[in-house]
Amino acid sequence: MKKADILGLMSGTSADGLSIALCEAAGRALSVKAFGNYPYTAALQARIIAAKDLKAPELSALNFELGRLWAGMVKRFCRAHKIAYKNIAVIGSHGQTVWHAPHFGRALPGKSAGHSPGKQGHTMQIGEASFIAEETGRPVVCDFRPADMAAGGEGAPLIPFLDEYLYGGGEPAALQNIGGVGNIAFAGKGVKTSGFDTGPGNSLMDTAVHRLSGGRLSYDKGGAWAAAGSADTEKVHRLLEAPFFSRRPPKSLDRNEYSLGYLQKHFSGRLNKKYGPDLLATLNLFTAASIALAFRKFAPRGTKELIVSGGGALNPVLMDNIAALLLPSGVRVRSTAELGLHPLAKEPACFALLAWLALRGRVNHCPSATGARGPRVLGKIIAR
Ligand SMILES: Nc1ncnc2c1ncn2[C@@H]1O[C@H](COP(=O)(O)OP(=O)(O)O)[C@@H](O)[C@H]1O
Ligand SMILES: [Mg+2]
Repeated sequence: MKKADILGLMSGTSADGLSIALCEAAGRALSVKAFGNYPYTAALQARIIAAKDLKAPELSALNFELGRLWAGMVKRFCRAHKIAYKNIAVIGSHGQTVWHAPHFGRALPGKSAGHSPGKQGHTMQIGEASFIAEETGRPVVCDFRPADMAAGGEGAPLIPFLDEYLYGGGEPAALQNIGGVGNIAFAGKGVKTSGFDTGPGNSLMDTAVHRLSGGRLSYDKGGAWAAAGSADTEKVHRLLEAPFFSRRPPKSLDRNEYSLGYLQKHFSGRLNKKYGPDLLATLNLFTAASIALAFRKFAPRGTKELIVSGGGALNPVLMDNIAALLLPSGVRVRSTAELGLHPLAKEPACFALLAWLALRGRVNHCPSATGARGPRVLGKIIAR
């Protein structure tokens, strides 16, 4: 494979902003050359999170609005890093998920609204990529998930392809991303790459902070609230009894599972400022415990390392909780930052790589992680 500069864009379920990574693909190596995070206003974030309830005209408008916004962010990013459009081989854009309903292929107890067990699954990512192609004049690949679902997969997770690409030849490792939800992948020599959602990521903590601050704050910066409170460990144990956590993979979550409704159901009476720190401490521990549980239950034997990416890696209380829970198993917990990769750069880097492969008709898919019938070339190409 020749050398190429490729650009990847990711807007996750947290709807906190667009992450952009400029990468260099050379052979099987992928390195991040520049990275930027372009936050959304709180108002836009709230509109994106509420997008699942929009009617077609408003959803259509939001699709175009995001496409235009991202084209402008790509322009700013390229200016800031002195990147000439003509030197970009391809741009991959994951899009903004507004709906993700995996099918699971069988009926499940304890399912939540939005899942369609035993039925056809469906998913929708928006953010019209034509505007990015128009701005840059470069080919853009978008909409990666539908092809996986058409092949019987759950449409998620797609990142294990990158994990296999990067870590497939080394010591067995667990790769945990903590975005809106959490997901883990296992890769390494002798390991059949697999991955699945672990449970909540930052979404529960974000929702609580947003609610308790009257919309003023969108996340628990540095884990400060959680550090000031004490966790209700019994509650955490009870929450972990939900069937999802013990179900065997592959499994993926409805992106709207851990929203305000969940907090109202499980923490009614505690959703006020007085309990803020204790609530955040509890949600933080619950999030960490769901990750540790996933590792202990499903990590291939011999896996001794958990490498964490996503915004959750920037929450020291969360990282300490995970490390403390896995310490007895002799597992080392590290942020991708220690390996030279900004925790927010991994996902956009992945979509840059998927796009680069899709453009040349190469497999960019890990069917063992999604449950699809076989390897596919994911993504739709806007040719230039
Ligand atoms: N400094 C920080 N301290 C604590 N949490 C943080 C910090 N920076 C980011 N986060 C968390 O990370 C989230 C964004 O993570 P990200 O990986 O971008 O998720 P997504 O992929 O769902 O967009 C934020 O909503 C916030 O909860
Ligand atoms: Mg994000």
